[in-house]
Amino acid sequence: MTSPDGSLGVGLIGTGYMGKCHALAWNAVRAVFGDVARPRLEMLAEVSEDLARQRALAFGFARATSDWRALVNDPAVDVVSITTPNAFHPEMAIAALQAGKHVWCEKPMAPALADAQAMLAAARGSGRIAVLGYNYIQNPAFREITRMIGDGAIGEPIQFRAEMDEDFMADPEQAFFWKSEASSGYGALDDFAVHPLSLAHRLFGKAERVFCDMAKPYATRPLAEGGRRAVETHDMANVLLRFSGGLQASLLVNRSAWGRKGRIALQVFGSKGSILYDQERMNEIELYRATGDPARQGYTRILAGPAHPPYASFVPAPGHGLGFNDLKVIECRELIRLIRGEPASLITFEEGIEIERTVHAAARSFASGGWEEVG
Ligand SMILES: NC(=O)c1ccc[n+]([C@@H]2O[C@H](COP(=O)([O-])OP(=O)(O)OC[C@H]3O[C@@H](n4cnc5c(N)ncnc54)[C@H](O)[C@@H]3O)[C@@H](O)[C@H]2O)c1
Repeated sequence: MTSPDGSLGVGLIGTGYMGKCHALAWNAVRAVFGDVARPRLEMLAEVSEDLARQRALAFGFARATSDWRALVNDPAVDVVSITTPNAFHPEMAIAALQAGKHVWCEKPMAPALADAQAMLAAARGSGRIAVLGYNYIQNPAFREITRMIGDGAIGEPIQFRAEMDEDFMADPEQAFFWKSEASSGYGALDDFAVHPLSLAHRLFGKAERVFCDMAKPYATRPLAEGGRRAVETHDMANVLLRFSGGLQASLLVNRSAWGRKGRIALQVFGSKGSILYDQERMNEIELYRATGDPARQGYTRILAGPAHPPYASFVPAPGHGLGFNDLKVIECRELIRLIRGEPASLITFEEGIEIERTVHAAARSFASGGWEEVG
């Protein structure tokens, strides 16, 4: 149970890319923000006892297990970070919620919509907090973009474009791994497109209609044990959307895009200007305002700094920049606030299900060849 000082007991399942990111956030959140109790890092779960012990030592967790069910049922654990491959999210999140724990689950919710709906039902039934790891909404630069649009800095938004590209699967000889298995979902659609969708959701509300094309650039990939296996997911997807209110949007995503390392490029066009942003330059916003002398119009580059909360909690000097892992620290603090009953900006399972519905409508569109209602 939560301690008298309000500190939360933390359980972490999975210690790969995102597991380490969550662990860093739980370790740093008190030092960065000062207004939350230091979390108690109670228990960590991995696939083997050995790996769990190694990671618990490195990440500062008191106990290690190869049995994630023991972790979700442990009385000292109040909140469970779920950072395992997508296929595990439903079973782990539902078990944790049923054991009375708060849940911080990585995106996407689940490969199947019915499983995501079961996760939402478990969250509602438990009365516990259940949120998803949509870290990009936490970026102070993105919060400033939200404020700019809200303030009318670019007038009425008329179009949103997003491209998300990385090259970790660009090599045709990249080994087959869980992201190439159908059990992980559709591919780039639910691996990548959900991120810019989370941003679009925050800016413009729900998507109403979608049209989608997906592609597999490489039919097979090599197996670590020898031979090749047919790729079951699509590494590329192009999606057209209409949001409620009529706003036109497009999402182009590719995890086989040589040269792109961490691109989430946004363009928002409005009746009086436009905003550009790219996660590869995550501390910069470009703002164009169609006012004044046309001879001096152009994009203004705005660097993140203490004027963009909560940047100053990390570093007092403007232009020095935050990094990807810092977004999880902000997300972690928001989660603690939500658990304490305070206002917080997070994508809960309630909002996350709308993102899932959009993804599944996009997949239906790919199958039908026509526009689909998100419903
Ligand atoms: N929010 C983001 O920006 C972001 C970025 C990357 C990945 N993700 C999401 O994070 C999740 C994990 O992705 P990743 O890239 O960290 O994967 P990963 O393969 O690096 O790590 C997954 C870890 O889970 C462990 N694991 C698997 N089954 C387990 C079990 N039954 N019990 C305990 N541990 C188990 C694996 O051993 C591995 O260490 C995915 O859902 C992915 O979509 C989110």
